[in-house]
Parts: sequence; C-alpha cells; structure tokens
Amino acid sequence: MARTRLALVGCGGIARNHAQRFAAHTDRLKVVAAVDVRLEQARAVADLIDGAVAAEDYRDVLPDVDAVLLATPHQLHHAMAMDCLAAGKHVLLEKPLANTRSECLDLVAASQRSGTVLMVAYCMRYHPLLRRVKELLDARTYGEVFQMSIWTEQLTVLDSDNFGRWAMDVHNLGGGQLFSHGCHYIDLLMWYLGDPIEGVHVGTRTGTPWMTMEGTSNVALKFDRGVLAYHFGTWGARGSRLKYSLHAHCTDAMLEVDLIAGKLYAHLPQDKVELLAESPGGKPMEQEMSHFLDCIETGRRPDTNAAESLRGLEVIWKLYAAERQGVVARFADMPHPQSSFE
Ligand SMILES: NC(=O)c1ccc[n+]([C@@H]2O[C@H](COP(=O)([O-])OP(=O)(O)OC[C@H]3O[C@@H](n4cnc5c(N)ncnc54)[C@H](O)[C@@H]3O)[C@@H](O)[C@H]2O)c1
Repeated sequence: MARTRLALVGCGGIARNHAQRFAAHTDRLKVVAAVDVRLEQARAVADLIDGAVAAEDYRDVLPDVDAVLLATPHQLHHAMAMDCLAAGKHVLLEKPLANTRSECLDLVAASQRSGTVLMVAYCMRYHPLLRRVKELLDARTYGEVFQMSIWTEQLTVLDSDNFGRWAMDVHNLGGGQLFSHGCHYIDLLMWYLGDPIEGVHVGTRTGTPWMTMEGTSNVALKFDRGVLAYHFGTWGARGSRLKYSLHAHCTDAMLEVDLIAGKLYAHLPQDKVELLAESPGGKPMEQEMSHFLDCIETGRRPDTNAAESLRGLEVIWKLYAAERQGVVARFADMPHPQSSFE
C-alpha cells in the first residue's frame, strides 16, 4: 500500500512534539512538508523530519499530499480544515474542533460530504493506560464505577512576547482553560461514562492573570445511575503533586492512572496492584497517528470524529452558560449532531 503523504501545518509547540514521533510510522507515512506562516518555524520543524521541506502557505503543498495535520491556533481551525476537506484531503485536526457551534456543524457536514477522514486529535483517548481503564470499566472487572476524578495541573504562562500569545485571548482560544484543555477530559469522561445529565463549572482568572477567561477550572458532572465525575484543571500550577492523574472509584477497587509515571494501579482494600506500565510522561502521538492512518487505509470512522467531539463542546458551552446564569447545567435537551448527518 502507498504511504500516506502528509503536511504538518502550524509549527509551534505541539508540532515539535509531533515531529519527533513520526518515525514510528515510516512504513505507512511520509511527511513531505512542515508549514508555518513564520518560515523560520517551518524550517526548524522540517529539520526534525527526515525528507520534509519547509513551506509558508499550506495551500501551496495541498497538491502534493493526501493528508494534513493541522496544529494551528483555534480561530483558524474552521477555515483551514474546510479548505483541506474541500481539496479532498484527510485531516487530523488538533483539538478543539472549532470555536463556535456553527463552525463545528460546518465541519461535521463537510466531513460527511468529502468522503475523507476528519479526526480530532484528542490524543488521550489513544493512551494505552486510559484505554485499559475503559476496558476494565466496561467489563466491570472491579465492580461498578461511581466516581471519576481527573487532575491536570500545569503552568502555561502566556505573555505578549511569546509565540502562544494568541491563546491569551478568548476570541482566539474560544474559551478558557476548560474549553482549550479541559475538552480532552470532558471527551474522556463522556467516552467512559456516556452523556452527563447535569453539572456545574466554576472558573477563575486568579492565579493566571494572563488569561482573558479562566485559567483554572472545576467541573462536576452527574451521569446516569448517579455516577459522579470531576475535572480540576489549572494552567497556573507553580508546583504539583498529582500533575496528570485519574482516579476511578469502583465498588471493588479504585483504579489510579499516573500519567507522568506511566502506571495504572488497582487499589484494593488490602493491596495495591500494578496493572500496566507504559513509558513515563509523553503524549500518545504514535497511537493517535496509527489510528488516523488506519482510518485512511480502511475507511473506518475515527473514534474521535467531528460529530462526537462537537458533543463534548456542547457540554462545555452549556456549562459556561449555566455558570454565567448561576444555575446548574442540564444536558437532556442537547442536540444530537450525529442524527442530523447520518
Ligand atoms: N493535544 C495536545 O495535548 C495539545 C497540546 C498543545 C496544543 N494543542 C493544540 O495544537 C494547536 C496548536 O497549539 P500550539 O500550542 O502548538 O500553538 P503555537 O502558538 O505554539 O503554534 C501555532 C503555530 O501555528 C502557526 N500559524 C499561525 N497561523 C498559521 C497559518 N495561517 N498557517 C500556518 N501556520 C500558522 C504559528 O506561527 C505557530 O507557529 C491548538 O489547536 C492547540 O489546542 C494540543
């Protein structure tokens, strides 16, 4: 089978991470170009990828590729992904899908029309430790889950001189920490537990004054059968003990994922068992790319497809709206984008 020819578009922070992880797929993937409006950035990333050239405008490289990985600021996601889909290219789009509901609906429709793959890069869904948790919960190996807790504690300082300055402004970012980063974990919770029934969000700029919306947020959600979950996320952590961790309390044990150590444990009443060990740290970029290539090669629908990812964003928008009104968000009347397009 011919290798998929890909352009990496947007050569900032996350692109450098991607660039160092393509080597795992040389039998299926050829990265032909690294593209950035700042050519020096494109050159620096192209230098990390065997055989890639640097370019300034993604439209110039579209005729030479089958697929694009868009790692650009959020306010550009819609226009760039629409262009690439219209040109018949497969798109792996960094999260979030887009900044508004109508832009997201456009992308869902365009991906149905195009017959190509549109996958949202919710990389945590491809993490081997988090996938194992899904299997254990679905199989009820440790009984019924009744509480999930997720912590993401990092220091993301944005200032007007650094490259990420676009992300300070809600008009570019589309929201605050919850929308930009918490979207990974709302998506993950919905994958584990289904659609939430009700929930609340409180956010604050205190501690992260560089953000125009919240840099720290607390979400609490209630699911079917009274199952509860929360995500605590901050971009203001000057230190951290839990860093990136997930706890799933089940009726027979508590599952713990320590993403920094790369470990999954079961805490039993009298024992602690290591269930799985992975390489510490790192984002699961290889597994994410592998799924994207599987979808291109087989026509399979991505696990993290546009319609499903919009559903997670709908939850976030409802949480923000309820916070502004000082009420509890209820999700019973959420639109079903899938049903409109399939
Ligand atoms: N999956 C993850 O864990 C993760 C982590 C960080 C960022 N992201 C996502 O990746 C995307 C990029 O974030 P980042 O932190 O790398 O941002 P960044 O600001 O570091 O990089 C963005 C790059 O896009 C370039 N760019 C801007 N306009 C462009 C255009 N028209 N054409 C080509 N390039 C253009 C900028 O020059 C910059 O180099 C966002 O969607 C973000 O949410 C994902």
